[in-house]
Amino acid sequence: MSLYFGVGLLAFASAYVNIALNKPANLQHPLIPDDNTHNASNAVDGRKSNLTWNGGQCSASAARETATWWVNLTDIRSIHHITIYYMVGQRPWGSSNLFTPSFLGLSVYVSNTADKLQGTLCFKDNIFTVDTIPANLTITCPIHGQYVIYYNERLPGVTYPKGYSSFAQSDLCEVEVYGCHTTGYNGLNCSIPCPNVNCQYCHIETGTCQGCKPGYQGQRCDTVCPYGFF
Ligand SMILES: *[C@@H]1O[C@H](CO)[C@@H](O)[C@H](O)[C@H]1NC(C)=O
Ligand SMILES: *[C@@H]1O[C@H](CO)[C@@H](O)[C@H](O)[C@H]1NC(C)=O
Ligand SMILES: *[C@@H]1O[C@H](CO)[C@@H](O)[C@H](O)[C@H]1NC(C)=O
Ligand SMILES: *[C@@H]1O[C@H](CO)[C@@H](O)[C@H](O)[C@H]1NC(C)=O
Ligand SMILES: *[C@@H]1O[C@H](CO)[C@@H](O)[C@H](O)[C@H]1NC(C)=O
Repeated sequence: MSLYFGVGLLAFASAYVNIALNKPANLQHPLIPDDNTHNASNAVDGRKSNLTWNGGQCSASAARETATWWVNLTDIRSIHHITIYYMVGQRPWGSSNLFTPSFLGLSVYVSNTADKLQGTLCFKDNIFTVDTIPANLTITCPIHGQYVIYYNERLPGVTYPKGYSSFAQSDLCEVEVYGCHTTGYNGLNCSIPCPNVNCQYCHIETGTCQGCKPGYQGQRCDTVCPYGFF
């Protein structure tokens, strides 16, 4: 796992495609039920030119103890990195901004179910302050999964660092998930087949096998599973 700021700072960042675009999204504690101005899908609609509250391009939740938002990639995909654009509103981003405090402490998971605890924690913020957190951040997490889950919490009885909001919110203008539309391939264009024929999921950059096809095992998936085993 690694983290870098801004967008496109590294040349590879632009090669993968945004596999979250227009995929089904879900929001815990919608701000106003059935309100399209702030629905979950606004964070995967490809629009991020208006990061304000009422611009109609962002997802927003009610202030609660927990805030969860996820996108369903509709199948297990090979992911390289995730870029999140948080709501900025009218004022400059930073310590005087109304939205900055609720971005602090965020987590991002990749999971094969909508349950984050069954997945992998790609990033948990315990480094940023209202002065240092960027309005958009890119998290490199080269693994496989079907759901990308944004989570934040402000639990009762817990003392949070200075600057944290009192309640959790997920005010996300865009969540971009860069990777491959198909599994079994790697490389910048998702065009190189995994080096081992029985490997179903290989590392998106290196090609190292991360998961065998059913019935195979071993580091290179070259061993047939014993009879009765999967
Ligand atoms: C979410 O809101 C947008 C308008 O901002 C609308 O086009 C879209 O259909 C809505 N999506 C869902 C799933 O309701
Ligand atoms: C964002 O949308 C709101 C509501 O339509 C509008 O008032 C505001 O001027 C827009 N801001 C930008 C930067 O486009
Ligand atoms: C995610 O998408 C898949 C494929 O469309 C669908 O079968 C599945 O039910 C969806 N998951 C949830 C939790 O809605
Ligand atoms: C990303 O955030 C930085 C500040 O943290 C800002 O300068 C930049 O304009 C943002 N990029 C976009 C595309 O909104
Ligand atoms: C990716 O595609 C571009 C343009 O189609 C091509 O020039 C490049 O060689 C490809 N790279 C790889 C690693 O396949």
